[in-house]
Amino acid sequence: MQNIRKQLVALSLITGVTAAFAQAAPDLAAMPDAKPGNAAMIELGKYFFFDNRLSGDWGVSCATCHDPQKGWGDGKALSTGYPSMEYFRNSPTVVNARHRIRFLWDGRLDGSDAGTMVRDMITEAHTMNMDSRLMQERLKQVPEYNALWAKWRKDDINGMRVFNAIGEFIRDLESKPAAFDRYKKGDEAALNAEQKNGYALFNGKANCVTCHNGPIGADGKLHNTGVPENPAVLKEPVRTITMLRHYATVGMPNYMNARTDVGSYAITKDKRDIGKFNTAQLRDLKYTAPYMHNGMFATLDEVIDFYNAGGGAGSELKPLNLSASEKKALKEFLLTLSGDPVIVKNPGQPDMQVRTAYGKN
Ligand code: HEC
Ligand code: HEC
Repeated sequence: MQNIRKQLVALSLITGVTAAFAQAAPDLAAMPDAKPGNAAMIELGKYFFFDNRLSGDWGVSCATCHDPQKGWGDGKALSTGYPSMEYFRNSPTVVNARHRIRFLWDGRLDGSDAGTMVRDMITEAHTMNMDSRLMQERLKQVPEYNALWAKWRKDDINGMRVFNAIGEFIRDLESKPAAFDRYKKGDEAALNAEQKNGYALFNGKANCVTCHNGPIGADGKLHNTGVPENPAVLKEPVRTITMLRHYATVGMPNYMNARTDVGSYAITKDKRDIGKFNTAQLRDLKYTAPYMHNGMFATLDEVIDFYNAGGGAGSELKPLNLSASEKKALKEFLLTLSGDPVIVKNPGQPDMQVRTAYGKN
């Protein structure tokens, strides 16, 4: 009896452990329910997002490079950057910022700190080239902004809080429910046979799930997939300049000799991170081409061919040997992670007017 009990305990331990392992296996997940943010901050953040007076020379707003009509990017392989600059990487979507574990292609910022992310976009020479004190004084001369601010707080418009308001706005932008979400929530018919087959490939033979998991399909880690260099980065001096200036800013050793985008190495200074990038999310791919940190792939077919070949030079991937119909099923599945586009209307830019009395609006 005693023995049997012991065996039973052992057995339940083993099944318990297997169940725990089964639960821990990475998988894509449905989008969690939206969490309502601070409405007054979101409203202000929306105005600021579309306002080009937040950039040094009034040349660009966040929406220039993160345009809702272009999947919240700019539709180009490499971002144009601040006027007179040309950036050396692609402008990604800002949708699902709340679910990013790390921000930016080299993963250099913490996904839980949207305010710092926004500050860098505004103050960085490559994007908005704006001094935050100047920004604060400009915004205080817009009566509508003082009025909206007063709905949120009793103090005056202030730099870091402006960043946080925009951060709250982008954290509120979430993908619309997609076929995949309906499927995960129990609607078997939400995916057809080919899409289900694609999902099985994603988790099995194609092994995408090791890096692309969770609600937005991004593990928050740095990986080397060996995406080929975008030749424009080294052919066009203005782009080489932004790349080298970025490396100089983050203190990368011997940066002047860099002739490739080294990715996360510039941040970590660990040679094992050369060529590693932050896993991209897989939500809304329908709207966010071209793909990868340097926009090297114009279509999902090109992306899948790239993975099928085992990625590029130095990659940690292996060839997949997918047949033509398997590649198609995988693509059809990827598209089930795109719902309707997230559309926000530009609220317009209220005029400036010299403010007469401080302490009052
Ligand atoms: C001139 C173009 C430009 C402007 C203006 C701009 N961005 Fe960006 N943004 C980029 C580029 C390029 C990247 C990727 C940079 C990198 O990874 O090196 C990026 C990255 C981001 C990311 C990271 C997304 C992710 O998941 O990794 C967020 C969030 C973001 N921008 C928000 C904003 C906000 C908010 C504003 C306005 C305050 C703004 N950006 C203004 C070009 C721009
Ligand atoms: C070893 C981890 C890893 C695996 C496995 C992996 N990916 Fe990726 N994926 C990444 C990283 C990292 C990036 C960003 C790379 C870059 O920009 O250089 C990325 C980018 C992408 C993008 C571009 C998204 C965008 O908006 O630019 C797509 C699409 C994609 N992967 C699909 C897949 C598919 C499909 C598979 C399976 C066949 C797969 N990935 C397997 C790590 C991985």
